[in-house]
Amino acid sequence: MTGIRQARLDDAAAIGFIEVETWQATYAGLLDDHTLIAMSTARKARQWAAEMRHGATGLWVWEDDQLGLLGFGHCGAQRVPSLTYDGEISMLYVLPDAQGQGIGRNLLQGMFTDLKDRGMGSVLVWVLEANPSRFFYARLGGKLVLRRTIPFGATQVDALGYGWEIL
Ligand SMILES: CC(C)(COP(=O)(O)OP(=O)(O)OC[C@H]1O[C@@H](n2cnc3c(N)ncnc32)[C@H](O)[C@@H]1OP(=O)(O)O)[C@@H](O)C(=O)NCCC(=O)NCCS
Repeated sequence: MTGIRQARLDDAAAIGFIEVETWQATYAGLLDDHTLIAMSTARKARQWAAEMRHGATGLWVWEDDQLGLLGFGHCGAQRVPSLTYDGEISMLYVLPDAQGQGIGRNLLQGMFTDLKDRGMGSVLVWVLEANPSRFFYARLGGKLVLRRTIPFGATQVDALGYGWEIL
């Protein structure tokens, strides 16, 4: 089957691989080099496996029946109580060679459906201001609504919040 499905425990290694590959490709020059270089696929895989063993929800993958997993996303309830958005897209990563083929859109829409099914009516995603992927969220209907500075490794980075008021 090619398409979106919920993640399973045996996806942990592929999710860890996608996370590290995509972070290093996307954030080189934007985030602290030492942190990027130190990322480990094996460590990420162990972390994802542990999350899933502890019953993680909202973790979705895109699987290609020939090529395996090409992207993943994670969504859940809003973590910052003062924000008015019910839900949050906390991760969305598509392998560099697989970008631009509709996988990100399918994952994002699948996560919107997941949040709606869990009773959430609005959602926010944070993205680095310097990351051109922010225009993807604008293309998918997100409105630029918030701005904040967040610590990352030895530096501070500017992040933008894109919101959807009605899912
Ligand atoms: C951002 C990301 C998830 C988008 O996924 P994708 O599979 O490449 O995007 P899609 O092919 O589904 O694109 C959907 C639409 O958004 C547009 N789009 C995608 N990336 C875009 C960008 N950087 N700028 C403007 N538009 C973009 C596409 O052209 C397409 O438009 P259409 O409606 O005219 O067809 C993916 O590129 C990615 O993983 N980037 C690196 C990691 C990252 O920054 N993740 C977000 C962290 S918050």
